[in-house]
Amino acid sequence: MSSEGVESGVWGDLEGDRVQRFTLHNSHGMEVDLCDYGAMVTSVRVPDRDGRSVDVVLGFDSIGEYPEKSQYFGCTVGRVGNRIAAGSFELDGESYQLAVNNGPNHLHGGARGFDKHVWQATEILTSRGPGVRFTRTSPAGEEGYPGTLEAEAVYVLTENDELVIEMSAVTDAATPCNIVHHTYWNLGGHGSGTVLDETLFIDADRYTPVDATLIPTGELAPVDSTALDFRGGKSIGADFEAFPPNGDDPGGFDHNLCLNGEVGRLREVARLTDPTTGIVMTISTDQPGIQFYTGNFLNGMIGKSGAAYEKNSGLCLETQAFPDSINHRGEPGWSEVVLKPGSRYEHVMVHRFSTD
Ligand code: BGC
Repeated sequence: MSSEGVESGVWGDLEGDRVQRFTLHNSHGMEVDLCDYGAMVTSVRVPDRDGRSVDVVLGFDSIGEYPEKSQYFGCTVGRVGNRIAAGSFELDGESYQLAVNNGPNHLHGGARGFDKHVWQATEILTSRGPGVRFTRTSPAGEEGYPGTLEAEAVYVLTENDELVIEMSAVTDAATPCNIVHHTYWNLGGHGSGTVLDETLFIDADRYTPVDATLIPTGELAPVDSTALDFRGGKSIGADFEAFPPNGDDPGGFDHNLCLNGEVGRLREVARLTDPTTGIVMTISTDQPGIQFYTGNFLNGMIGKSGAAYEKNSGLCLETQAFPDSINHRGEPGWSEVVLKPGSRYEHVMVHRFSTD
């Protein structure tokens, strides 16, 4: 089925499930490909400064490659994105043990998180433009989480060249909830080499320092005089050597920054520019944090059109609640990540594209 501004069709079969793909168009030549497996973005094609269409998203040509090769490419991560220390927390006097799938910790919702399920998809036409609404029910006990969670991820492409992502959820029992969007961007094109020459601005005065297993220490440290000070805008490569490889750690940026401004209010928080294509992407969100990750674990896997995705050939800017927030409830500067029955979890991200 296809509706105005949306084309759709079957992409393939995965573990017995039929997987669908959707393409959103606007009148300025922008196109966004979406897929119901992982409620993910598989391509974003935008005109560069010379009007040529550039695909700025890392991905694979066939759906069958995703389970094996993808490192959360383009997907909707949940029920809780990023890490929970030792996969454990207490809530209302009960102890919970989640799946441990990243060294000693829980990462991105566990062994089979939201990214590894086929979601229900509905094409929509909103006043802002065409879109797709993805929904999925996460049963109580999935990956160890309490409560049945009804999750939703809505993508809309607007005539202002915005990809709007609205993530939301309701639950029937108290549960941590932090749904995160995980596209790997390269504004020079998905096969154009590393992102180290791109310029980044992030509106954040503080960040959350982490231990050797990437769990926050609890401190909200100033970015002043650190490589994480992106307030003036700078090339990603400029201070890259501040995080050198060390044993199993491939080095590079993989940090949560504490965004300035009021949590819950949509505000512009980041701006990324590629010098070659001139493509600019700004991100606005209502969230407290952003994970800036420079694709440090990319390992040369072959992606779309035969492109090799070597280390640092894409970056993620994942708006979120701070990692391990469930173990820092009530601490100054940390936001509440427990969703209760009767309340709605809401997370908005607006990616706006233009050229310089
Ligand atoms: C995390 C990285 C992790 C990656 C997996 C990012 O969100 O910050 O630590 O390796 O996801 O693709």
